[in-house]
Amino acid sequence: MEGMCTISGFSTAKSTQMHWYLLSSINYYHLADLSIPALYNVQGKTAVITGGGSGIGAMFASAYVQNGAKVYIASRKEKQLKEVSEALNKIGPGSCHYVVADLSSKAGCDALADNIKQKESKIHILVNNSGATWGAPFDK
Ligand SMILES: NC(=O)c1ccc[n+]([C@@H]2O[C@H](COP(=O)([O-])OP(=O)(O)OC[C@H]3O[C@@H](n4cnc5c(N)ncnc54)[C@H](OP(=O)(O)O)[C@@H]3O)[C@@H](O)[C@H]2O)c1
Repeated sequence: MEGMCTISGFSTAKSTQMHWYLLSSINYYHLADLSIPALYNVQGKTAVITGGGSGIGAMFASAYVQNGAKVYIASRKEKQLKEVSEALNKIGPGSCHYVVADLSSKAGCDALADNIKQKESKIHILVNNSGATWGAPFDK
């Protein structure tokens, strides 16, 4: 069998030996919880979602809040942001807060970052979602 299948220059037998060596010497599979609930757990995490007042951004916000995260949504229309925040805070168990921000300029992005920095020492998740969608005929 040796030499029939090579992985990164090792024969199958040697490669298997190497894997066993790594597994037994490092025991890396004991170092972290790699279960699906742990990998995707956002409980207690802090997220910033630009464009979170509508569409896909609001869906992100809803998913994070429903799974226990603290979420900041940021875009230009305060009325929309307020409505989404209030609706999500009723659902919980996480929370939703909003920051009015125009992210079309560096100054606007800096202002949002400064605002978040005043409230949080760190964020875990940034969903950079603000933007515009449009429809056009296929051949244009
Ligand atoms: N829907 C799709 O099929 C699709 C496909 C490909 C890519 N995308 C991208 O996915 C993202 C979300 O799309 P969507 O369909 O959810 O559209 P949407 O509902 O129009 O959401 C866009 C969000 O971006 C915000 N936004 C726009 N300009 C902004 C600015 N200058 N500063 C801050 N916020 C701004 C809008 O809020 P305000 O107007 O209040 O600022 C709005 O909340 C966009 O980046 C879009 O390009 C969407």
